[in-house]
Amino acid sequence: MSHLVDTFGRVHDNLRISVTDRCNIRCYYCMPEHATDFQPRSEILTFEEVERFVRVAVGLGVKKIRLTGGEPLLRRDLPVLVEKLAAVPGIRDIALTTNGVLLEGLAKPLYDAGLRRINVHLDTLDRERFRQITRRDDLDKVLRGIDACQELGYGPIKINTVAVKNLIEPDIVPLARFGRERGIEIRYIEFMPLDSQSLWDLNRVLLMDDMIAMLTREIGPLEAIPDQDPRAPATEFRFLDGVGSVGFVASVSKPFCLNCNRIRLTADGHFRYCLFAIEEMNVKAMIRGGASDAEIAEAVQANVRAKWIGHQINSAQFVPPPRPMYAIGG
Ligand code: 5AD
Ligand code: SF4
Repeated sequence: MSHLVDTFGRVHDNLRISVTDRCNIRCYYCMPEHATDFQPRSEILTFEEVERFVRVAVGLGVKKIRLTGGEPLLRRDLPVLVEKLAAVPGIRDIALTTNGVLLEGLAKPLYDAGLRRINVHLDTLDRERFRQITRRDDLDKVLRGIDACQELGYGPIKINTVAVKNLIEPDIVPLARFGRERGIEIRYIEFMPLDSQSLWDLNRVLLMDDMIAMLTREIGPLEAIPDQDPRAPATEFRFLDGVGSVGFVASVSKPFCLNCNRIRLTADGHFRYCLFAIEEMNVKAMIRGGASDAEIAEAVQANVRAKWIGHQINSAQFVPPPRPMYAIGG
C-alpha cells in the first residue's frame, strides 16, 4: 500500500537518488567547462544516511530506485551502496544512469553487488563530435564500458541521448543502427530547460516526431510497441523489420506529468517531488538534526501530497528550477 499519493491521485513508488553532483565530462548543454559550484563533501549524504532514507521511503511504498549524479561512478565505493540498497526489504529494482566513462572497471563490481539495469548517456559515436559535446576525449572508454556490461549479461542496457536541435541530428541514425546491432534501446530525450547556462530554448529541442521521421526515412518504418507501462516516461517503438527498438522521452512535445511516479533525493540531501520543483525539502537537516523515521516519513508524505500538476515548459510562465541537472540527478 502506498502512502505517497498526491492530490492528482498519482502514486509515487520510484525514487531517484543522486549520489554526487560532480562529473568527469562536461556535456556543454549541462555543465560549464569550468564548473566549480560543487558541494563540499560534508554536505553530501553518507551511505548510511541514504540507506536510512530509503528504508523510510520503502515504508511509504517506494519499490524502485535509480542511482544518478552528476556522474554516479565517481562516488567512491558505489558498489557498497548498491549492495546495501539491494538488501533493503521491499526494493524490487535498482538501476543506474551513468556517462559510462568509468564503467569498464566498475561493471563487474556493480554486477556482483546486484545491479542489472543500466542506462548509459551517449550522444554520438563519432570521436570528434564526442569531444566537442563533452569537452573530453573519452568515447572509447564509454564504448568499452558498454561492451563490458554486455559481456557480463546486464539487461536491459539502454543508451540515453539528449536531443538537442542543430547538434545531434547527424547522430540519431548511427546511434539507432548501433542499437539495432547490439540489442540496445536508444532513448532520445527531448532537451529540457535544466542546463546551467540557460542555453535552452524551444527552438533547440529536437522533437520526437521529427526524429521518428528521420529514422523512418533512413532505416525503415517504426510501430508503437503495444501495452506499454503508462507510467514509464519513454514511448517505445520497434522497427517493423523486427530488429530493435527505440524510445523517446518527449518531455517537451508530449509532457507525461500526469503519469509521474517519481520522486528525487539530491546528493546533498534535499527531497524533490518533481524534476522541475522550485521548492525542495531539506531531509539532510532532519536526519542530522535527530528527526525520527516517523517524522521524516510524515514530512515526505506532506511534501508529495502538495505536489504540483507538473512542469509548464510550454507556457510563458515557466520558471526553470534553481538547480541545474547535474545537481538534481535527472
Ligand atoms: N535535457 C534532457 N535530458 C538531459 N540529460 C541531461 N541533461 C539533460 C537536459 N537538459 C539526460 C542525460 C542523463 C539523464 C539523467 O538526463 O542523458 O543521462
Ligand atoms: Fe555529466 Fe550527465 Fe551533465 Fe553530461 S549530462 S555533464 S554526463 S551530469
